[in-house]
Amino acid sequence: MNTTISSYIILLGLVCMCRMEEHVVRSKRAWIIDSFSIVEEHPGPFPYALGHINIERKYRVGFDLYGHGVDEDPKGILSIDKDTGVLTVHGKINYEEYTSLMLTFEVRNKSNLALDTKLGVNIEILDINDNPPLFQRNIYESTVSEQAMQGSFTLTVFAIDGDRPGTPNSTFDYRIISVTPNTPSAEWFIRDTGAILFKGCLDYEAAERYTIVVEAKDHGEGVQLSSSTTVLINVLDGNNHLPVITGHTGSGRVKERETGVSPLRIHVSDRDSYQTGAWRAKYTILGDVGQHFSIDTDPETNDGILTVIKPLDFEEGAERKVSVSVENVEPHFSCEVKEKTASEMWRVVTTGDEQKNSNEMDLSTVEFSIIVEDINDPPVFTVPVKEVLVKENVEIGFYVETVTAADQDLGFANEFVYAIGHDPGDWVRVDAKTGQIFTTCVLDRESIHVVNDTYTVILHATDKGDPPMTGTGTLLIRLHDQNDNVPQLVTNSVYICMMDEASVTEVAASDLDGFPYSDPFNFEILGDVEGKWRFEPNYGTTVHLVKENVVHSGLYTLLVKVSDRQGQFALQNLSVTVCDCSATPNCLFRKTTGGMGAAAIVTVLLAMLLFLGCLLLSLTASCRPEKVSIDTDCTSGDTLLKSNTETPGNDCSRIHTIEAPGMEVFDYDPHPYAFEGDFEGDSNPDLDSISIPDDDFSYDQLLDLGPRFNQLGVICKA
Ligand SMILES: *[C@@H]1O[C@H](CO)[C@@H](O)[C@H](O)[C@H]1NC(C)=O
Ligand SMILES: *[C@@H]1O[C@H](CO)[C@@H](O)[C@H](O)[C@H]1NC(C)=O
Ligand SMILES: *[C@@H]1O[C@H](CO)[C@@H](O)[C@H](O)[C@H]1NC(C)=O
Ligand SMILES: *[C@@H]1O[C@H](CO)[C@@H](O)[C@H](O)[C@H]1NC(C)=O
Repeated sequence: MNTTISSYIILLGLVCMCRMEEHVVRSKRAWIIDSFSIVEEHPGPFPYALGHINIERKYRVGFDLYGHGVDEDPKGILSIDKDTGVLTVHGKINYEEYTSLMLTFEVRNKSNLALDTKLGVNIEILDINDNPPLFQRNIYESTVSEQAMQGSFTLTVFAIDGDRPGTPNSTFDYRIISVTPNTPSAEWFIRDTGAILFKGCLDYEAAERYTIVVEAKDHGEGVQLSSSTTVLINVLDGNNHLPVITGHTGSGRVKERETGVSPLRIHVSDRDSYQTGAWRAKYTILGDVGQHFSIDTDPETNDGILTVIKPLDFEEGAERKVSVSVENVEPHFSCEVKEKTASEMWRVVTTGDEQKNSNEMDLSTVEFSIIVEDINDPPVFTVPVKEVLVKENVEIGFYVETVTAADQDLGFANEFVYAIGHDPGDWVRVDAKTGQIFTTCVLDRESIHVVNDTYTVILHATDKGDPPMTGTGTLLIRLHDQNDNVPQLVTNSVYICMMDEASVTEVAASDLDGFPYSDPFNFEILGDVEGKWRFEPNYGTTVHLVKENVVHSGLYTLLVKVSDRQGQFALQNLSVTVCDCSATPNCLFRKTTGGMGAAAIVTVLLAMLLFLGCLLLSLTASCRPEKVSIDTDCTSGDTLLKSNTETPGNDCSRIHTIEAPGMEVFDYDPHPYAFEGDFEGDSNPDLDSISIPDDDFSYDQLLDLGPRFNQLGVICKA
C-alpha cells in the first residue's frame, strides 16, 4: 500500500454470520469494500445490523449509500445510519436471484457537505443448498429396435441445480432408481453424463416397453436435495424368430399340362409381431427342375401357396419332389447372453454373424411330393409340316403321302383317327386308320386354291382318350406344272378401221401354264385369208392383225390358231368388225345410238348378275376334273357378245341396235307412226323432251365385257 491509501483508515465492521475476510481492491479511483455478506433466505428477524463502516476524521462526517438493495432492485433491503455508519438488513434475499449487491458508499464533511470519500461496497450473498437438481423434462421417451446391439442405443437425461456453481450444493449424481419390467437378459444403466444404455439382449417378447425412473441428487452438506424423471423406452419388434413350417394342406396332386392350380398350401408359425416384416414369411422353392412351380405368401395367413406355372408332363415323371424353405422378409436376428461380466458390457452372441440354430434351420425347409396325374396327351404328327411334290393332273385316287402321328401317353392306346382338317378344294382324302392320303380329283396347279405352286392341307389325328385329344399337322402339296392349258385370246372381238391402205389392230393371248408351257405364242389364221388378213409379227404375246384394204366394212369371223412354246394350241373364232372410223375413232358405236342408255344399263346389270353367279359357281365347283379351253363356251356368258350381230355388208356407221338374249330389239330413233299436220321431228317439243343424254353410258364398256364373259364362261364350265 502506498501512503495515499494509508491516509484512509477503513474499519471493517464485522457482524455475526459474516465472514471476516478483508479485501480492499482498487477499482478505478474508488475503493471497494467487499467484506460484507448476507446469507440467502436469512430468516431474520428484521431489521438486523449487518455491520458498520467507520471512518476516522477530525471533523464530523455523514454517511450515504446507493445502489442494489437501496435505491436499485432489490429496493429496501439495505440501509445505512447517516451518523453512525451502521448497515441494516430489512428483508430476505435469494442467491439464485442476486449473487451479490453492488453499492456506493459516500462520506461527506458535515460542516460544508463536501465529499470526503467515495467507495464501492460489494455485499456477497451466501448460497445455501435450497435447490434440488431439476431435470429438463418430466418424461423422456424413445424407441429402440429389438435388434439393437448392447451399448449402441443411448438416451441422455439432463438436470440443472440452481445453487452456487462449483459447490457441493450444486453438484449432483444421476442414479437409476427403478426399471420396469425387470428382464434378466437386458440391464439398463446410466452414465455420469446422464446417458442411459443397456447391456445384454433386448427381447420384444419379454418387454415391449421399459419404464426407468432416474434420480439426480446433489451433494449438499447436511441436506441433500434430489428430483427424479421417468424414461420410457419402447422396444420395436425385430425379427428374432424364424417362421416354422407347421404343416400343409391341399391334395398334392396336379394333372399334367395343367397350370395355375395350387396343389399345396404350406402353413407356418412365427412368434414375431403379426403383419410386420419380422412376421411375414418369404418362401423359396428348391430343387424345382424345370421351374414348374411358384410360391406366394398369403398376406393374411402367411401361408405359402404353391402354384404350377409351367405344365408338368406325366411322361417325365409321376412324382415331383420340391423343397420349400421359409424365412422372413426382414433378416433374421437373434441375441443371446453368454456371460454377465463385470465390465460395462456383457458377453452376447448374435446371429447374422454366427451360424443359425441348426434345429430351426431344419424346421424352415421341408420337402414335399407332388403327384402328377396322367391325362390324355394330344397326338403329335411325326413331321408337323410335310412337303410332297406331285404332278398336276394325276389321276383321281393317286396316292400322295402317308402322315403319321404319335402319342406320348403311356396309359392310352396309340391308336388314332386321321381326318382332313382343312382342304380348300376338297382335293384329297385321308385314310382314317393308316393316314394315307389320296387325291379325290384332278389337281390343278392353276387353281385359285394353289398359292405359289403349293396346295395346303391341314390334317387332324384324334386319339381315343376321354376326352379325345386332337393333334394337327400340315401337308404341303407342291404341284409340278404341266402343259395343260392352251393359249387363249385375251379378247375374241376386235374392230379395225376402213382405210385406203392396210390397217392394223392388236390381238393378245395368254396361257395359265408357267414356263416353258406358255408364251411366246405363235399366231396363225386358218382358212383362205391370203391377201386379206395376216398377223405381223405372228410370234409373241401381243401381235398385230393386219387387214388389207381389199376387205370392206362388215363383221368377219377369223379362225385363229394360237400355239404355245410346246406347240399346244387352240382354235378360236376372232370376230373382227371392220368399219368406217372417219366419224369417230370407235367404229362400233355411234353418237346416234345415244338414246340406248337404259337398255345398255339393263344389259350391264344382267351381265353383272351373270358374273356374280359364275363367281359363286366357280367358288363352289372348284375341283375341276377336266381342263377347259376357250373352245368350250359357257352359254350364259357368251351370248351377250354373240348377240352383237349384224349382217355382213351393213355399213357399221349405221349400227345402233343391240340384242341381248331374251330381250327385245330396241330402236330409240323417233319414229313417226302417223302424220299429223306439219310435224317436224326436230321441232316437236314433246318428243325432244324424252331424249336421253348420250354420256349416260359408254358402249365401250359393253365391248370390254365380251372377252371377260368368255373367261367367265371358261370358269363356269364345271
Ligand atoms: C470541514 O469543514 C470545516 C468547516 O467549514 C472546515 O473548517 C474544515 O477545514 C473542513 N475539513 C476539511 C478536511 O476540508
Ligand atoms: C451450502 O449450503 C449450506 C446450507 O444448506 C451452507 O451452510 C453452505 O455454506 C453452503 N455451501 C456453499 C459452498 O455455499
Ligand atoms: C414360293 O416358294 C419359293 C420356294 O418354294 C419360296 O422361296 C418363295 O418365298 C415362295 N413365295 C411365296 C410368296 O410364298
Ligand atoms: C367358229 O364359228 C363357227 C360358226 O359360228 C362355228 O361353227 C365353229 O365351231 C367355231 N369354231 C370355234 C373354234 O369356236
